[in-house]
Amino acid sequence: MIKQAIIPLAGLGTRLLPLTSVFAKELLPINGKPGIEYILDECIDAGIKDIIFIISKKKKIIKDYFYNDNFYKSIIKKKKDPRLVKEYKKILFYKKRIKFVYQNKPLGTGDAVLKTKKFIKDKYFLMLLPDDLIIKNNCSKEMIKIHKKYKCSVMASLKVNKNNVERWGIYSISKNLDKNNFKISDVIEKPNSKDAPSNNAVIGRYILKKNIFKYLKNQKKGKGGEIHITDAIRKMIYNNNLFIGHKFYGKYLDCGTMSGYINSGNAISKL
Ligand code: G1P
Repeated sequence: MIKQAIIPLAGLGTRLLPLTSVFAKELLPINGKPGIEYILDECIDAGIKDIIFIISKKKKIIKDYFYNDNFYKSIIKKKKDPRLVKEYKKILFYKKRIKFVYQNKPLGTGDAVLKTKKFIKDKYFLMLLPDDLIIKNNCSKEMIKIHKKYKCSVMASLKVNKNNVERWGIYSISKNLDKNNFKISDVIEKPNSKDAPSNNAVIGRYILKKNIFKYLKNQKKGKGGEIHITDAIRKMIYNNNLFIGHKFYGKYLDCGTMSGYINSGNAISKL
């Protein structure tokens, strides 16, 4: 069973400036609800019991959001507003499941994952990237089912525009297992369009095997001087660790850019 999820939240959010100059992008409201709550709901609905947030000192506001008890208690005492009671209960429900670890230097997603090493208990765990919302279907839940069947790592996949592959990790496929799942033979972080082996992109849902920490420890910096999870996964694939790409149902919303963020709110408001 997959019971733990990790969520890297230490990124600077430069693509959403100026909104992120004093605020965490993951707390920005998407149709009236902080983006991170959509991610938490997906995890919890998928059966995850234990969630690790990787934040930085600069993103302490994320911890504050879940640890504002005195404020809620005093205001509820004064106002006795049932809506506030309900909201506070929801925060407590999330808080019970969250642990915080710190990544104070923005060295990339691979480095963020490495910070969770001593907290991961089971052989496999889930990672969700908070910029990537998937609505209308629980992608994590589907991926956990595939993991149960094949007992291996799984990553979400989406066909993207061929001119846009430089924005994503891109897969090579060695074999289709069925209509929505394929065996991955390689993955390249943000290739230029002439080197890209396909237009199947990595979307931010990963079921990873604990041995990834061994690879991450020795992982050198890659594109943009960052330690990429994709580069460590690539080495694992070369060392015969099975990774399956899962073409998910549901609608993908990219909240990490300004136009994507605006579009996400509009799309969710129309559900
Ligand atoms: C990260 C990954 C990339 C993946 C993308 C999905 O990139 O490094 O492989 O395709 O998430 O959103 P980032 O969005 O951090 O640039």
